[in-house]
Amino acid sequence: MPTLDRTKLEALLQSEAQLFHRNHPKSYALYQRARKSMHGGVPMLWMIRWAGSFPVFVAEAKGAHFSDVDGNNYVDFCLGDTGAMTGHSPEASVQAVMAQMQKGITLMLPFEDVIAVGEELQRRFGLPYWQFTLTATDANRFVLRMARMITGRPKVLVFNFCYHGTVDESFIILDDDGQAISRPNNMGPQIDPTLTTRVVEFNDIPALEKALQEGDVAAVLAEPAMTNIGIIHPDPGYHQALRELTRKYGTYLIIDETHTICTGPGGYTAAHGLQPDFLTIGKPLAGGVPAAVYGFTDEVSARFSAVLDLDDADVGGIGGTLAGNALSIAAMKATLENVLTKEFYDRAFQLQERFTAGVESVIQEFRLPWIVKRLGNRSEYWFRPNPPKNGGEAAAAIDHDLDRYMHLYALNRGILLTPFHNMALISPDTTEADVDHHTRVFRDAVIALFE
Ligand SMILES: Cc1ncc(COP(=O)(O)O)c(C=O)c1O
Repeated sequence: MPTLDRTKLEALLQSEAQLFHRNHPKSYALYQRARKSMHGGVPMLWMIRWAGSFPVFVAEAKGAHFSDVDGNNYVDFCLGDTGAMTGHSPEASVQAVMAQMQKGITLMLPFEDVIAVGEELQRRFGLPYWQFTLTATDANRFVLRMARMITGRPKVLVFNFCYHGTVDESFIILDDDGQAISRPNNMGPQIDPTLTTRVVEFNDIPALEKALQEGDVAAVLAEPAMTNIGIIHPDPGYHQALRELTRKYGTYLIIDETHTICTGPGGYTAAHGLQPDFLTIGKPLAGGVPAAVYGFTDEVSARFSAVLDLDDADVGGIGGTLAGNALSIAAMKATLENVLTKEFYDRAFQLQERFTAGVESVIQEFRLPWIVKRLGNRSEYWFRPNPPKNGGEAAAAIDHDLDRYMHLYALNRGILLTPFHNMALISPDTTEADVDHHTRVFRDAVIALFE
């Protein structure tokens, strides 16, 4: 088994950074200009979190590919960190958006298409009632409010190292002694999350029961398989226990399918027969146009109606003027009907199998103590020999330098992975040649590092 030479890794990182600089002069110039009008030179801070010292400025994106302002072409395995999982600008969504643009963009009134979307969401996810927002973050924030309002309970429960968007209650982790603390770099929390939230490790049933037993938890907010600290699959029987315990202690179960929609047309929920009280999802639902939804059961609907004062519905903390706007609805309807179909997943899964087989073959060839993990059309490589069971184990295994090196090496050779834990998403527009290109580049990166 080869050992990692940190000095060599550092030297390679430097030479890759120089190569990146040489190949992106226009992006660099735009970045310098952008820094004069935008904090950090980017419209949103996380856009600077790439392995190069400045972001690539995109010229055009279509399907699974994009080009940058310097004329470099890329296979996009990041796909907007799921926002463009459909492939960039899918034809049906684009046509629907262009048609709707002529007929009203935001109305503050429903129109008929929205019913088709509600019915399709019912069919896919099995929950009867749906509401619309612009982001998955908002969907999560709103269902937490609903759950607290209905149950009269103050707390929520999340899993260690989860991410559900910028939801205040979720920025909490366990420290080395197992104590809950505000997540490092949690920016200006309005309230200490240890007052609002319990946090336990994923896959730890006794810890879950202990946390719910006190009877003050309104809802568990969970990804059905964790994806934001790397992919962590639930142990066999874990979901059954999660459902039984939440029911036993009168706690609602919220399943956040924003990333796990990579599992199939009805997400992990449909694929594994889960029975959440609430389900939230955003990102790719409208082909990249801002749109998100949350669904809930008959029981939730009835209890919510009983405590809701409609006169204050617009200022009660759940809302958004542009939520459910006509443009998002049109894009969502077209995307659900024509893009995120069973055929989409069949093709993407086939390609993802090829992708993981390629990475695995290199890991075996060089006897690396690494693994590749997969969930539907999403996969990532991990620099540890076995899969982590929970967020704490996964976080401890992160190797930032190795992550940066693999990411930058790939980027310099026309492959964009997500900057966090080298995640690769596959859209049906990705080709076998794209996947094989990745395998070759992955192999070359390994050779440069170990030989
Ligand atoms: C599981 C999950 N839920 C919610 C969100 C929030 O999505 P958005 O940033 O689009 O609001 C994310 C973002 O990465 C996510 O991974």
